[in-house]
Amino acid sequence: MTTTVARCIEQRFGIPPGEGVRDAPERRGEATLVRVLERRTHRRYRDEPVDEALVETLLACALSASSKSDLQQASIVRVRSAESQAKIASWLPAMPWIGEAPLFLVFCGDNLRLRRAAALRGKPFPNDNVDMFMNAAVDAALAMQTFTLAAEAVGLGCCPISEVRTHIDRLTELLELPPGVFPISGLCVGWPEREGFVSMRLPPALAVHEDVYDASDLEEKIDAYDRRRDARYRIPAERQREVERFGTADFYGWSEDKTRQYSRPARPGFRDYLHRQGFALE
Ligand SMILES: Cc1cc2nc3c(=O)[nH]c(=O)nc-3n(C[C@H](O)[C@H](O)[C@H](O)COP(=O)(O)O)c2cc1C
Repeated sequence: MTTTVARCIEQRFGIPPGEGVRDAPERRGEATLVRVLERRTHRRYRDEPVDEALVETLLACALSASSKSDLQQASIVRVRSAESQAKIASWLPAMPWIGEAPLFLVFCGDNLRLRRAAALRGKPFPNDNVDMFMNAAVDAALAMQTFTLAAEAVGLGCCPISEVRTHIDRLTELLELPPGVFPISGLCVGWPEREGFVSMRLPPALAVHEDVYDASDLEEKIDAYDRRRDARYRIPAERQREVERFGTADFYGWSEDKTRQYSRPARPGFRDYLHRQGFALE
């Protein structure tokens, strides 16, 4: 059977697509739609380098992402030094794919360029604020996802690593990130060793709103999603989080997992870090 858009949507959400969805093999871009619908994170790579010319092309694709007000606030640090990559990997032993990836990048939000351009052109720059921080973070995220989609188009696999932010001071020192620049995520890139799997998403009925935001039946829809997802892939009992605090759950779905994961403050020092990097965040 050929892979079709309708089948991919069903695979992505675990429920049949809406009636309007139809397969249109003759439609321009159909193969791209299928590729996006089937996309997945890869964490195991063959021991094979990514060709230099291809890396250059993919970086150009990343920098082709849309950019808020054309401000172009994404920067990418390519970690070429094997020693540096090994050092970052050593901070996160639970994620061996960081050290194993043939290519490792760090995507950053960048306010430095605008500050320097303002000085160059003799203009004030009263914009080290929350809005500019968000613009830079969004630009960096768009660049990372554009890189990822381009990489996936040629058969590469990627895994973002926001966990590098758990070691943000060490990372900033290692990569010599100046004030105005902050990492949003690392990215492992390589030729996938395995096929991997499509991760089931919350249904469009929860995440897409018509005209106005509608959170009615939210809890029932989350519960139904938990059960659909569990039927496809059950989180093993040994992977339940915070068992000492919350006990072992009989039913451990996505929402149980995510609420346990975020039952403690995540990276509470991040605002102080941003202040140190020169963001007043007013
Ligand atoms: C911004 C961002 C940060 C992420 N950070 C990590 C990470 O630190 N380690 C990891 O193994 N996966 C990380 N991931 C991968 C997610 O776990 C993955 O995208 C999610 O489970 C959904 O799976 P899928 O991409 O295969 O659909 C990250 C993804 C994103 C978008």
